Amino acid sequence: MGARITGWASAVPPTVVTNADLEARLDTNDAWITERTGIRARHVGGVTSALTVESGRRAMAMAGVDPASVDLLVLSTTTPDQVVPATSSSVHHELGLSGAAFDLNAACAGFVYALVVADSLLGSGFRRALVIGSDALSAITDQQDRSTAVLFADGAGALVVEGGGPEPLLLAQDLGVDGSAARLIYSDRGGYMVMEGREVYRRAVRIVVESVGRVLEQAKVKLDDIAVFAPHQANLRIIEAVNARLGFPMEKTAVVLDRTGNTSSGSIPLALVAAAEQGRLRDGDLVLLSGFGAGMTWASAIARWGAPPGRPA
Ligand SMILES: CC(C)(COP(=O)(O)OP(=O)(O)OC[C@H]1O[C@@H](n2cnc3c(N)ncnc32)[C@H](O)[C@@H]1OP(=O)(O)O)[C@@H](O)C(=O)NCCC(=O)NCCS
Repeated sequence: MGARITGWASAVPPTVVTNADLEARLDTNDAWITERTGIRARHVGGVTSALTVESGRRAMAMAGVDPASVDLLVLSTTTPDQVVPATSSSVHHELGLSGAAFDLNAACAGFVYALVVADSLLGSGFRRALVIGSDALSAITDQQDRSTAVLFADGAGALVVEGGGPEPLLLAQDLGVDGSAARLIYSDRGGYMVMEGREVYRRAVRIVVESVGRVLEQAKVKLDDIAVFAPHQANLRIIEAVNARLGFPMEKTAVVLDRTGNTSSGSIPLALVAAAEQGRLRDGDLVLLSGFGAGMTWASAIARWGAPPGRPA
């Protein structure tokens, strides 16, 4: 059973916080943040459901699909609007979708988890899916804590994936978790994000390199065959270290973190959508996705990029 990407869009809240803004109220500075992370600005003050609705609506408009014909919403989020019910239920209602909707929490690896889950459900009866990664980390980040406030922010990205057709959406996938590292990044109920940055950094590079190696082998694909690599947007130094070990060029890597910060579930689709909007992705291109995050979770996949119906790119 094949499946195909036919629409995409992203959304960020309007409020931008630059490094200069942070410098004015925290014991930090632009040089430290830029050198250590590559982040220069980020969007904050968002609400997960609103970002999800905005990105989802625009992705469906691009694909030219009637919302009522979308019978599956898989929403990856770590920052649901409330504990119960799932944020996907209000989004489902607001967008006028049909069928099933649920939230999935695999932190910054969540979007790739969501894509894999949606693909598998499209292979078992669902017809058309919205797959959205959306987070408002600013709501669970202590804006007075320089170790996290410089990093975490808000954003969402959505894909429309339609079942059917001859080609599979995913050529390979690798999902995993190491729960023994659960306290390296956490936010207890009602609390702020806490992170052991150094240890997360060290593990992230290793996890992503190994996981990417597994999907390349599974798909029997060479790095040269990958048009765009969209890694989790946590830290430019992590992305550069991963690419150096893999031998993959930065020119073919999608980077938006300089202007978005780390938006967790939003990060990989924000990077993918930006690459598509820059004309770096054509119908049939292979994209490599890889995320890691709280859990610690990881997820990589090799997917085939698509195009809106009747508009091959
Ligand atoms: C967070 C991160 C940028 C910190 O960089 P680092 O080089 O590891 O820095 P450290 O945490 O060791 O801190 C170094 C010094 O900078 C200070 N510091 C921390 N945050 C600072 C900030 N925003 N501005 C200025 N100084 C800061 C520390 O207090 C420490 O000072 P000290 O040497 O006097 O104790 C880096 O560890 C990282 O990116 N880790 C991965 C995080 C990640 O990917 N998280 C998301 C997972 S989904």
